[in-house]
Amino acid sequence: MADAYDLIVIGSGPGGYVCAIRAAQLGLKTAIVEKNPTFGGTCLNVGCIPSKALLHASELYEEAGHGFAGMGIKVKPELDLAAMMKYKAEGIDGNVKGVEYLLKKNKIDTHRGTGRVAGAGKVSVTAADGAVETLVSKAIVIATGSDIVRLPGIEIDEKRVVSSTGALDLDRVPEHLVVIGGGVIGLELGSVWRRLGAKVTVVEFLDRILPGMDNEVVKSFQRILEKQGVAFRVSQKVMGVKANGKGPLKVAVAPAAGDGATEEFEASHVLVAVGRVPYTEGLGLEEAGVAIDNKRRIVVDDHFQTNVPGIYAIGDVIRGPMLAHKAEDEGVAVAENLAGKAGHVNYGVIPGVIYTYPEVASVGKTEESLKAAGVEYTVGKFPFTANGRAKVNRQTEGFVKILADAKTDRVLGVHILGPDAGNMIAEAAVLMEFGGSAEDLARTCHAHPTLPEAVKEAALAVGKRAIHV
Ligand code: FAD
Ligand code: NAI
Repeated sequence: MADAYDLIVIGSGPGGYVCAIRAAQLGLKTAIVEKNPTFGGTCLNVGCIPSKALLHASELYEEAGHGFAGMGIKVKPELDLAAMMKYKAEGIDGNVKGVEYLLKKNKIDTHRGTGRVAGAGKVSVTAADGAVETLVSKAIVIATGSDIVRLPGIEIDEKRVVSSTGALDLDRVPEHLVVIGGGVIGLELGSVWRRLGAKVTVVEFLDRILPGMDNEVVKSFQRILEKQGVAFRVSQKVMGVKANGKGPLKVAVAPAAGDGATEEFEASHVLVAVGRVPYTEGLGLEEAGVAIDNKRRIVVDDHFQTNVPGIYAIGDVIRGPMLAHKAEDEGVAVAENLAGKAGHVNYGVIPGVIYTYPEVASVGKTEESLKAAGVEYTVGKFPFTANGRAKVNRQTEGFVKILADAKTDRVLGVHILGPDAGNMIAEAAVLMEFGGSAEDLARTCHAHPTLPEAVKEAALAVGKRAIHV
């Protein structure tokens, strides 16, 4: 049969396209189905890539306005928002074209349309013009990603009341952006618009921002963001957002707990960033008998197989952190398993990065989770104020914190608040993947003068022998 594949992947985000490429590398006859006009999923089109383009450009804009003069560079930056958006669009275009090229290079058949599981080993693809084609395959991998969580009573028009997608594409700088949700999206996109001139207020339901991240890091990070001008209203909930013609939006907030009074304030824009939910609409999962849990995630076993033989799922649509690199690693693992190899993902070593300034990066356990698990640990900390390169660059905010097992010295968690933390966390991830100790890190020669010397010093501090503090 012409259309008999070894593998059909539904969804071309970082999970799906990486899975398809790895499968093709291993000799599996592979097809990928994508409903959007471009490949690359949320990450490339409306997620990681556009947000990082705007974070990069806005950081340089702010730096040019405030930081350059101190280095003897006199400039007066002027914002051309349309040109900045074009720069972002070109970045997306380059990346999605790259995926298209890779799919072609690896001889992966591409099918444009909405994929649906149409029984064992069958996927139907409905094209934009309504034409339906049915493909047959030994295995199906669902990699359909996630969608935004909406709040009841708050209508997202993607113009003034926006999700992350609209916030990446505003045609003017908001006078006052109210961000609902002090999570990763809220802080990254809030930072972008603050740097470009907006007043930003973050409303967070819990008593702290960034739930799940190391407390000490988050406390310092929030103080830094406040110094930069971001206002926080924690332990508060947004009760509603009212639009009155072209006038300002009225945002009603109330204490998260109890019956405290509702307070109303004005905003030009509202960003709803309260999380994401697995995207399984229209996939025919119920009819196929595929189990879904109470958070709408597809249930999989350790090999990414669902309860229905031959149907697998990876990425944002299953359990675990909603991160592109996690989806990619799962894509590789499931492809390798299907090709008879031993694919595996180590969920204990998945780094997470917030690409603000300074960046926040972490891998492994937090102090809170170690305490809760009753694990005895030692802490090594080193501030960037004591790192030569950070000092000369005048980027001294933040610190590195290493948590090591008190008995074995094995590194259990690393948390970095500081410039370029996202790049620095990579060495911690490699160390932890190999089961390394703080002593291993402390005895590894680090080039001078570099920011990663702070990571080495934090490892030395685990043994109470940091040199520069
Ligand atoms: P997706 O990337 O969501 O891809 C799913 C694809 O499936 C889509 O192309 C969709 O059109 C397609 N699809 C869905 N249903 C069907 C169907 N029935 N038929 C055919 N195709 C279908 N993560 C990071 O690691 N780093 C970051 O910096 C980062 N920044 C982010 C910024 C923002 C604003 C957002 C929203 C997310 C960000 N993320 C980031 C998260 C990251 O984008 C996701 O974790 C990642 O895209 C998940 O990959 P995936 O392959 O599971 O799904
Ligand atoms: P999130 O889960 O990171 O944060 C949501 C925040 O909203 C939480 O702090 C939560 O307590 C709060 N919240 C929930 N309901 C609320 C309410 N009604 N009122 C006020 N606050 C409320 O979700 P976010 O920021 O939407 O991001 C979604 C996903 O995208 C994340 O899981 C993240 O992994 C991924 N992402 C990753 C990035 C990165 O790796 N740099 C960047 C952006 C997104």
